[in-house]
Amino acid sequence: MISTEKLFVNSRLQYYFHKWFGFGPFLEKLPASTYKSILEIGSGVGFTTRMIRVKYPVANIVATDFDEDSIRIAQKNNRLHSTTFMQADATKLPFSDNEFDAAFSVLTLHHIDQFEKAISELVRVVKSGGDIYIMDLSARLNFRKELTPGVFMKTDLLQIGEKYGLKMKDKGGMYLFSVQGSKL
Ligand SMILES: C[S@@+](CC[C@H](N)C(=O)[O-])C[C@H]1O[C@@H](n2cnc3c(N)ncnc32)[C@H](O)[C@@H]1O
Repeated sequence: MISTEKLFVNSRLQYYFHKWFGFGPFLEKLPASTYKSILEIGSGVGFTTRMIRVKYPVANIVATDFDEDSIRIAQKNNRLHSTTFMQADATKLPFSDNEFDAAFSVLTLHHIDQFEKAISELVRVVKSGGDIYIMDLSARLNFRKELTPGVFMKTDLLQIGEKYGLKMKDKGGMYLFSVQGSKL
């Protein structure tokens, strides 16, 4: 991620973007659930993690990011909440198979060149019957490949999810879109 983007995504602007337009309204529409364990990849400075915590107050939440600085800030931003933050590469997750009931990836996969590998890792660590929620930006936005290496369309993501054994659901949006994959 280039430094100007990092500055934006780690700022209050990103927090309010998510609260009003991005992840907040998406999360609000999800039904209350009995998820006991939740993984987030690409948690950044923990804005999206905090929203997940508020939605699922009793779940064990593990939030991961490649960037150690972001993890440190996320820990501070979430010090009042019992969430575990750890450095991890989404393409090589340090978890056992079938460890989580649900997983989230918010605005992260388009930063990952091997985003398909990251999807396969999410499928591996989520239990059968569990859910994977992905919100991301579409390749329709014509990103420059060097800035956002993992560019894809929503239709690509729906197909890739099916390929890895997920039952995919389009959850709406075009430029900023979301999908749900349920592991069979
Ligand atoms: C745009 S930020 C999204 C942060 C947060 N989810 C949000 O929406 O505010 C993308 C995050 O993905 C992380 N990231 C990029 N490549 C990664 C990888 N291979 N594994 C884990 N995290 C990665 C970056 O460090 C960055 O914090």
